[in-house]
Amino acid sequence: MSTLAADLDLPEIPLDAGTFEERRALRTALPDGTWLFRNLIGYGVLRYEDAIGVLRDKRWHSASGRIPELMGITRQDFLGRQRGSILSAEGDEHVRLRRLVAPAFNPRAADRLRPFMREVMNGLIDPVAANGRADFVADVTEPYPIPIICELLGAPRSDWQLFSRLASDVLEIFSADLADKIDLVMSAQDELDEYTRQLIAERRSKPADDLLTDLIAAEEAGDKLSTDELVMMVNAVIVGGTDTTRNQLGCAVSLFAEHPDQWALLAERPELAPRAVEESMRFFGAVRGTVRYASCDIEYRDVVFPAGTFISVGLADANRQEDVFPEPDRFDITKPAPEQPQLTFGSGIHYCLGASLARAELQEALPLLAQRMPNLRLDGPVQWKPEGVGIFGPAEMPITFDPGH
Ligand code: HEM
Repeated sequence: MSTLAADLDLPEIPLDAGTFEERRALRTALPDGTWLFRNLIGYGVLRYEDAIGVLRDKRWHSASGRIPELMGITRQDFLGRQRGSILSAEGDEHVRLRRLVAPAFNPRAADRLRPFMREVMNGLIDPVAANGRADFVADVTEPYPIPIICELLGAPRSDWQLFSRLASDVLEIFSADLADKIDLVMSAQDELDEYTRQLIAERRSKPADDLLTDLIAAEEAGDKLSTDELVMMVNAVIVGGTDTTRNQLGCAVSLFAEHPDQWALLAERPELAPRAVEESMRFFGAVRGTVRYASCDIEYRDVVFPAGTFISVGLADANRQEDVFPEPDRFDITKPAPEQPQLTFGSGIHYCLGASLARAELQEALPLLAQRMPNLRLDGPVQWKPEGVGIFGPAEMPITFDPGH
């Protein structure tokens, strides 16, 4: 027999419930068999099977385009614009977009950029290597993804700075005080769109070996992306692909700073990089959760969620579940690959489109850093970004390491 969610007596877990250890304490304190809880936006799930259950159920729609609305923003020009993105598209529209763009994001396309990723990372390490000291965020994680996204799109080196400024303004869309920054975000989006349109026009007349050319050429059964859709995809790549990668790199390295034996091992055995990336994303993911809303009345596990209900999906909680990941609270890059994937890239139809690129970026960065920053340790406390369902990572991370490598 089914019950309306609102009629259930459920535990309450805040959305921003602290550190992994604090969340583990909250999870273990839940009555046996608890899979659903209440929070500020409605409900939440935190077990692996329910995270996948919700994310793979097409009746639950992405709430990424509705987060500004949830934050109380009512400006229609702003809201309408965010809804057009692949990140929030649903149904046939989403299927069509994914089918057209997915081939351009395959692992081989990401592999083309690996030598360039190493060049960028070496260029960031060079100025700090002699000193053996750095703010890992300002010196390494912040600048790392922009040149790669530029190279991916085919934007020239002379535009890196412009692109970096526009991307930081566009990324203010994730800030807690978005209401005050709407004009800044929209004007950066306008400028970026204009820039992208020019880049598209150039690629149309002179194709190159880059993502933009692949997206322009992408065609299926006579269908192609329009110029507006190409512009939207570039925006989605910036919104989805810069801050995530930065913060994941920061989270991973903060973790290695606490596990010096694993850092030394990675330097010695760079072939462990793919396992190191999956294990650090499982253990300490930069995207800790995501949000869905019910597009119609949904019955799930005998509970009825009326249309419009919001539900948070605890990716980080699921990544620490004992019956899915053996010894989940032990970080070890030599553990055999688990049978089920870690969930920091999400699951289902919105599964991260840039996962191959992000994996390549992290797999190239981590062993290189381990080799060139031996004996890495923290040189003061890490300042963390505010906790929430958004992207999490260090804001400042002073480090020290053996110089001269
Ligand atoms: C470590 C880095 C990254 C992490 C942790 C990450 C995480 C995620 C997650 C969790 C989702 C699904 C969100 C949801 O279901 O609500 C997602 C979607 C997406 N990601 Fe990533 N991402 C990363 C890097 C990238 C990169 C490098 C790109 C682009 C080149 C990218 C582009 C996208 C796009 C376009 C989507 C939307 C896909 C869709 O809705 O169909 N991401 N990402």
